[in-house]
Amino acid sequence: PEFWAVIPAAGIGSRMRADRPKQYLELAGRTILEHTLGCFLDHPRLRRLVVSLAADDPWWPGLACAGDPRIERVAGGKERADSVLNALARLAELGAGDDDWVLVHDAARPNLSAFDLDLLLAELADDPVGGLLAVPARDTLKRAGPDGRVRETVDRSVIWQAYTPQMFRFAALYRALSDALVAGVAITDEASALEWAGQAPRLVEGRADNLKITRPEDLDWLRQRWADRH
Ligand code: CTP
Ligand code: MG
Repeated sequence: PEFWAVIPAAGIGSRMRADRPKQYLELAGRTILEHTLGCFLDHPRLRRLVVSLAADDPWWPGLACAGDPRIERVAGGKERADSVLNALARLAELGAGDDDWVLVHDAARPNLSAFDLDLLLAELADDPVGGLLAVPARDTLKRAGPDGRVRETVDRSVIWQAYTPQMFRFAALYRALSDALVAGVAITDEASALEWAGQAPRLVEGRADNLKITRPEDLDWLRQRWADRH
C-alpha cells in the first residue's frame, strides 16, 4: 500500500543560531531540506508529500524540487504540531482515506536511511495503532531536583529517544492531534497525541545517526560523516 508524507519545515532554528532556518543550510551541495525530501521522493510507495513552510519563507522557490508535482506546500503554524495539523488538513483535501498511513518526518533529519524507512513501513504494516522510529537511551540517566543535585538514577532499560518518521493512520492521527491541541495539551511529536488519546504507539528501533540537526555541532558532525563516506 501507498503512504502519505508530511514534512514540518516551518521552524526558525533558533538553537542553530545561523543566518537562516537550519533546513536551508547546505550539506554536501544541497540544502538539508532537499536531502530530507529526497528520502521520501525516492520511495516507490509515496503517494504525495506535504511540506509545511513559514508564510514568509523566501528560500523554498529556489530549491530544485520546488516544482515537483508530488509535493504540496501549506503554511506552517506557531508550533510544530500546528504545522503538522495544517498539513493533515491538506491531506484531507487531497483525498487521504481514514486508514491510509501517514508518515511525519522532521525537515531537520536529513540522514534517514532507506533501510530505516523500509523497516518502519514493514514493522508497522499490520499494526492497529502505528508507531515511530526510536533509539534506546545510551547514557546513565539521572533525575534532578530543583537544587541541581541527583535525586535518583532512572532505569535506562525502559527509556527511548523518540525519532521520526512517526507513522499513524490518517483519521486517528488527525483526530488525536486536533483534539489534543484544542485541549491545550503539550504535543511535541505525533506519538504524544496518540498517547493522549489512549493509544500505545509501537517503538521500532532505528539508527542513532538519524539525528535531528539542532545545534551547530550536529551539522558539523554530519558534514564530516558524509565527507568521509563520499
Ligand atoms: N517546525 C515546524 N513548525 C514550527 C516549529 C518547528 O514545522 N512552528 C519544524 C522544524 O522546521 C523542524 C521540526 O519541526 O523540521 C523539528 O523542530 P525543531 O528541531 O525544534 O526545529 P526549530 O523549531 O526550527 O528549531 P528551534 O527549536 O531550535 O528554534
Ligand atoms: Mg523548535
